Amino acid sequence: MGEGSVSRLRSEIEALKKKRNAVILAHNYQVPEVQDVADFVGDSLELAKKALEVDADVIVFAGVRFMAETAAILNPDKTVLHPDPTAGCPLADFLSADDVRRAREEHPNTPLVLYINSGTEAKALADYIVTSSSASKLVSKLSTDKVLFGPDKNLAGYVAEVTGKEVIPVPRHGHCPVHEYLIDEVHLELAKSEHPGATVLVHPEVRAEVRRMADFVGSTSQMLRAVGTLQGKEFILGTEEGLSYRARVLYPDKKVYPLNPKAVCVNMKKITLLKIVDSLNRMKPKVVVEPALASRVREVLEESLKIIR
Ligand code: 13P
Ligand code: SF4
Repeated sequence: MGEGSVSRLRSEIEALKKKRNAVILAHNYQVPEVQDVADFVGDSLELAKKALEVDADVIVFAGVRFMAETAAILNPDKTVLHPDPTAGCPLADFLSADDVRRAREEHPNTPLVLYINSGTEAKALADYIVTSSSASKLVSKLSTDKVLFGPDKNLAGYVAEVTGKEVIPVPRHGHCPVHEYLIDEVHLELAKSEHPGATVLVHPEVRAEVRRMADFVGSTSQMLRAVGTLQGKEFILGTEEGLSYRARVLYPDKKVYPLNPKAVCVNMKKITLLKIVDSLNRMKPKVVVEPALASRVREVLEESLKIIR
């Protein structure tokens, strides 16, 4: 898209934001022009907290569906717009509500911790809801030595390693295709040979073998903060490529490279300026979550947020 049309769309968005009393919340993986137009850009935990704080009638959520649903669940009185409702998360799709019920039957009296990257119906059956930045902290605070954790087997393994507890993945094989297949040992070695001496940071959704080759493991925003605070000038980010743009904006004096520039989450990239304009114009598509389900998930989310505070 040409620079002229980007600035025209930006002006339209600014005018529509005023007219609708709207804010735009965007995830760290969004395309640069969407990050640039957002009022706040962050990881899943920061976005959930921000959604609770914003003083606006309308939230436009630039991210995938479970994130927009979280914002709607936490804000029953606000209108939440998701500019492309087909932007889902294949990791979240690994876990159905029936899988959760079955796991609960097989492991009675074992708390069920769900990654926020899961569907609303599954979340309503969880005891706790966590994000990549809060998972280990919350599990370490529970009094039990064993938990069920879904749907990401890699994050489950990381939580087990950090907390020393038994973490049973539900289902056994849940994963994010971007982090499982596009950020592997070969990509990591290649990036290191291209940028010798760079610090390697990875997301806990990568496989354990890749995680163990890295210097730092954390959520997208934890990686960003590490770029800002760690010694060294060069950083390789082992996650979706969009995070590198964010890191360069925040730390222009550092050199940041995506571990694999082809590690793209196509769902995150479905949100465009044009779709944001369209959704603010038509006040559609609205995120609607069945009220009883929303109220149960809100309870679990709020309780989980209290534990990690
Ligand atoms: P963060 O909460 O770390 O931003 O992760 C969200 C996500 O979808 C990672 O793939
Ligand atoms: Fe889901 Fe993976 Fe995309 Fe994150 S990067 S939203 S986990 S598919």
